[in-house]
Amino acid sequence: MKGIILAGGNGTRLQPLTFAGSKQLAPVYDKPMIYYPLSVLMLAGIQDILVITRSTDLPVFRALLNDGRQLGLNIGYAVQDEPRGIADAFRVGADHIRGEQCALILGDNLFHGANLPTLLRRSALKLSGCVLFGHEVADPQRFGVAEIDRRGRLVSIEEKPRNPRSNLAIPGMYFFDTQVSDISGVLKPSARGELEITDVLRAYLEQGTAELVWLGRGVTWLDTGTHESLLEAGTFVRDTQRRQGIRLGCVEEVAMYMGYIDPDDCHALGSEMDRSPYGQYVMERARSFGMGLPPTVLSEEL
Ligand code: G1P
Repeated sequence: MKGIILAGGNGTRLQPLTFAGSKQLAPVYDKPMIYYPLSVLMLAGIQDILVITRSTDLPVFRALLNDGRQLGLNIGYAVQDEPRGIADAFRVGADHIRGEQCALILGDNLFHGANLPTLLRRSALKLSGCVLFGHEVADPQRFGVAEIDRRGRLVSIEEKPRNPRSNLAIPGMYFFDTQVSDISGVLKPSARGELEITDVLRAYLEQGTAELVWLGRGVTWLDTGTHESLLEAGTFVRDTQRRQGIRLGCVEEVAMYMGYIDPDDCHALGSEMDRSPYGQYVMERARSFGMGLPPTVLSEEL
């Protein structure tokens, strides 16, 4: 399965933070924002990943992530200079997907939770149609919203409805089968001039192959669309890490536990930043690989 991280857009709601750099490179406590969605794709078992950015930001992403080899990944890049909507990612990334299934994650969405790796792997493995996720929020009008019937079946999908039919927001992470290129190829822009991801999901819903997976209380989903939510995300990461002595979105650690790199490679990556607590953590995880408790980045079902 292929992966796409959408890291384009002008980040207008975060200006002036985003005047001179991509939102998806903004710090979320101790690491660039894109580490979080990248680690989520890696936990889903995906190693072949396309990062879509503005042309001005592309060299910076490349300087950060390179071709992904250091993490046992294959990372490519493509440009989207105009914000033409999320579903435009399938057009920009057409060569990358080329007839394969794909997972799309928005570069500004953060997920954390014990059963997340299992949910992701399960969604990727038995995909037939598309998988979207649902998460209860207090302000659903800011998001795509899923309506379910009394038996929990998905009945409608709306983009930022003024009067939401439920409080079940649809986070920016989706799995699609090979039809996604054809479906997005015939999409028309919405009233706000964008190719909407919710229109793609609705096409699957109409053919009866859209599966809604509920992210329960065990999973935290954070968006970083406003100054307030960006700070909240950073605080969440700091507090969780400090309390548990672990790091969230640590791509080196995830690469090692997923078997993409070996502990020696992981240790070497940490030692390149050995003056930072992050680098020291990466080295420590590499040294203690295989000892003590099972890794907390994975769940036992993996
Ligand atoms: C986008 C999608 C929306 C989704 C949200 C998740 O909205 O259009 O359906 O719920 O991402 O973050 P945006 O935040 O780009 O306006």
